[in-house]
Amino acid sequence: MITRAVVAGLGTYVPEAVLTNQDLEKIVETSDEWIVTRTGIRERHIAGNDETTSSMATEASRRALRDAKITAEDLDFIVCATNTPDTIFPSTAARVQHQLTEKPIPGFDLQAGCTGLIYGMETASALIKSGKYRNILVIGADKLTSITDYEDRTTAVLFGDAAGAFVLQANDNTEFGILSSYLQADGRGGDLLIQPGGGSLMPASKESVETRQHYLKMNGNETFRFAVKALPEAVEEGLKRAGLEVGDMDLLVPHQANLRIIDAAVRRFELSPERVVINIDRYGNTSVATIPLALQEARMEGRLHDGDVVVLCAFGAGLTWGSNVIRWGR
Ligand code: UT7
Repeated sequence: MITRAVVAGLGTYVPEAVLTNQDLEKIVETSDEWIVTRTGIRERHIAGNDETTSSMATEASRRALRDAKITAEDLDFIVCATNTPDTIFPSTAARVQHQLTEKPIPGFDLQAGCTGLIYGMETASALIKSGKYRNILVIGADKLTSITDYEDRTTAVLFGDAAGAFVLQANDNTEFGILSSYLQADGRGGDLLIQPGGGSLMPASKESVETRQHYLKMNGNETFRFAVKALPEAVEEGLKRAGLEVGDMDLLVPHQANLRIIDAAVRRFELSPERVVINIDRYGNTSVATIPLALQEARMEGRLHDGDVVVLCAFGAGLTWGSNVIRWGR
């Protein structure tokens, strides 16, 4: 008997407020033209002061639970991928549990840069395959604007806030669900994308605040070079592990960090526009939330059919990269 983790529900949350490229022109020295041509981003949504990673995650989770037609009390586990937890501890997973239900549910936060969602799906899939858990909530939520330096034009234009959540469910004897995953991490590139301050290496101090060490720092060029290689590798390796090839892939749902990175993969794999999801223009880089957001959009547009081979793939801080290959359907 093959037990697989199938996607039983998907929910997303995007904050209301929109920050356009024109708005950013008033904050840093940049232009709509530069941002659009170099990144593909036109606008992004930003969370209000009263919104946190856990509040966005909770709303996305409620929607995913409704979609799966189960309640929070049915959940056996919560895996929350985030790089901007409400607090270093307690975990965002525990905060979401508390906001969803009074019933205790085991859970933890998982931090793997923008690849966290991919790691979360594989973790939940393995827990389900162990036979011990049947309903797992996998969340990808980040309030990246809380660590974005609006005095640094090289990063300020890139990021937005959002959350997404999957309900993964054990299904016995099914052709559907997560077929394979490919995960990688290589710390040699750790300094390319980093929040230097706030951890045990550099605890908060007057100096760390004054020198802006609590903000995200990125070597854009080097990260770009890495991503252009990592994305196709993740797609090919994930498919290989499922016994499939690029030609078998019906839909590619790539992490939305830069349109040029996605375009490079599209050219390499010779994908027609129907076989790739792109929505970076309206949300920017929302870290672990880009993939659920893009997948949900594809679903709403009727682009997902039972039996389709869907590949989720991402790359990010760590450096990390990876993919999940899913046969769509429940
Ligand atoms: O999700 C995590 C993974 N993250 C990524 O994958 C991001 C990967 N990197 C990138 O997407 C790109 O490297 C960026 C979008 C961050 C930068 O694009 P780029 O084409 O690599 O630009 P650049 O850093 O090479 O900078 C080119 C020029 C520089 O000016 P000079 O030195 O040529 O005079 C920059 O100072 O563009 C300048 N520049 C800007 N100009 C206007 C940098 N940022 C801006 C800006 N507005 N916002």
